[in-house]
Amino acid sequence: MKTWKINWKLAQSVVVFGIFWFTSLQPVSAYPPGVGILGKARDCMACHASDGPWQDDGNLIADLLDKETGKSLRQKDGSFLITAKPEQSRTVLVVLGRSNGELSPVPNRNGWIFVDPTLIERDFLGSKFAPGWDADLSMSCRLTGDNLEAYKGAKITVLPMKVRPSGAAKDTEIEWQFLLSSGEAVKGDAKQGLIQNYFTRKVWLKVEE
Ligand code: HEC
Repeated sequence: MKTWKINWKLAQSVVVFGIFWFTSLQPVSAYPPGVGILGKARDCMACHASDGPWQDDGNLIADLLDKETGKSLRQKDGSFLITAKPEQSRTVLVVLGRSNGELSPVPNRNGWIFVDPTLIERDFLGSKFAPGWDADLSMSCRLTGDNLEAYKGAKITVLPMKVRPSGAAKDTEIEWQFLLSSGEAVKGDAKQGLIQNYFTRKVWLKVEE
């Protein structure tokens, strides 16, 4: 009888420890850094859903603009092209939101990451943006309310990202993963409470001669 009691106590503490371990682990791997930095999720969809009202691409604002010229870096096929000379830093404006034509209540918080999918599984510290390329803000999460002439009146997030190829950088392709969201997130659960839609875009990085 006595041994049974001791084992029961042991089992109880194992369960309590397990719950503690699980909940303390969750937040560490959540949000954009869950992809490749704090965890090895392939993309946001490892935890999130894409069941919000913003499925269609028609009213989607997802743009990368050259900060100096204000020009979009979008290509005909919908991908984006960032070019720079070796060691030259270029600032790109990362723009996300829904256009004025959106009929559903618009998202109020956007999160994103630029990542080389082939680096996600690798064990090394630091950026997984692209080998040989530096980026000062390759991931972020931001509330809408930023202004940009090109998207006047739309509820968007705008954030600059500096990109610079090192001498060793090569032409390469990376992925822009982003999530438009509103609602109240529930701790440790990326599906409850959030209204959300997930998208990806291709981004080409090219070293200018
Ligand atoms: C390993 C699981 C996981 C991955 C991968 C992940 N998230 Fe999350 N995310 C969560 C959880 C869980 C929450 C709920 C809040 C919490 O637990 O802190 C959350 C919350 C959020 C929120 C709401 C924040 C708020 O303030 O309410 C945004 C936006 C978000 N994630 C964006 C992203 C984006 C963008 C990616 C991919 C680049 C991503 N997440 C990848 C688990 C994840």
